[in-house]
Amino acid sequence: MNYLLTITKKFNNLTQRAKENKSIIILGIETSCDETAVAVVKNGRQILSNVIASQIDIHQKFGGVVPEVASRNHTLAINSCIDKALKDTGVIIGDIDAVAVTYGAGLLGALLVGVSSAKALAYTLQIPLIKVNHIEAHICANFIEYPNLTPPFLAVAASGGHTSLYEVLDYNKFVPIGGTTDDAIGEAFDKVARLLGLPYPGGPEIEKQAQQGKPTINFFKNSKAYYNKDLSLSYSGLKTAVVNYINNAKQRGEKLNVADICASFTKQAVDMLVDTTIYAVKNKGIKNIALAGGVAANNHLRQSLITEAEKISVSVFIPPSILCTDNAAMIASRAYFSIKSGEDLADLTLNAKANL
Ligand code: KG4
Ligand code: ZN
Repeated sequence: MNYLLTITKKFNNLTQRAKENKSIIILGIETSCDETAVAVVKNGRQILSNVIASQIDIHQKFGGVVPEVASRNHTLAINSCIDKALKDTGVIIGDIDAVAVTYGAGLLGALLVGVSSAKALAYTLQIPLIKVNHIEAHICANFIEYPNLTPPFLAVAASGGHTSLYEVLDYNKFVPIGGTTDDAIGEAFDKVARLLGLPYPGGPEIEKQAQQGKPTINFFKNSKAYYNKDLSLSYSGLKTAVVNYINNAKQRGEKLNVADICASFTKQAVDMLVDTTIYAVKNKGIKNIALAGGVAANNHLRQSLITEAEKISVSVFIPPSILCTDNAAMIASRAYFSIKSGEDLADLTLNAKANL
């Protein structure tokens, strides 16, 4: 039998097994940016292993991720990550039911390393290959952390590449309802950090500085409202306001209070997202919010969203930091729900997509 026929049959069989809640073990691969990650997850919610090889040290000296360097380092790391993810579980390679891989969005060359490895593995093992949308996967990190979380809920994905609001109507139905029209929130954190001479990635560094500062600077003094009732936001505007503030202060020869700038920027970046999210759940009568993505590791964002949601009796779900930033457990989790719905089976022509 040829590969396509074999995997279609196996995929249909897995869908049936998932519907009967029988054990399904998925190996997930994530290489969309600067983390080479491989994980093994059972039934979409139980992590058996979660290996993350970060390239942060390598990119730090460039002040940001260099795409070509990221691809090359994924190539170097991927095989040992797969080996370790399997060793850590105690399951043998023959126990893997399917391979899941991020095919977008992300850096094209980086994504291709994961996609090619996943294809090779799926073909060799003659098992189904499942294509995964990176942002939807971030949201699924909540299914791992909260076994009782079920759709519908509102999801907020806040990462280095995305700031998006989704109505998650079902495990396989993610409806975009808002988000940034320009820069992502994480991108704004990284750019402001760079301007202040803080190392990459900027988010955690700004968080450290902000803890020592006061949010006394209003970057939007003469600016119009920063979010809209159509649930669109702009982080480019805030970033430019911070750039102008810093340049003006430098021109006047004033010493910059980095801690206060970081605290003020964080407050305004977080307020924009939290206000928009609270407006969305009120407007749509939604009772649960799931936060996701690297910026969800930020304590001010976590606390602020919880506080504002409590006021209107809405529950907030947030994964632990290790599942907020890029990892492959979320990829395998997302794929499980695809399998259960009988969707997202890929074949060996699967290509990476920088934008999804
Ligand atoms: O989700 P992620 O790991 O990768 C993407 O898919 O983009 O997110 C990375 C982003 C970076 O912009 C990083 O600066 C930001 O998440 N980030 C944070 C924090 N930790 C990571 N931003 C603010 N506070 C943090 N603690
Ligand atoms: Zn991500």
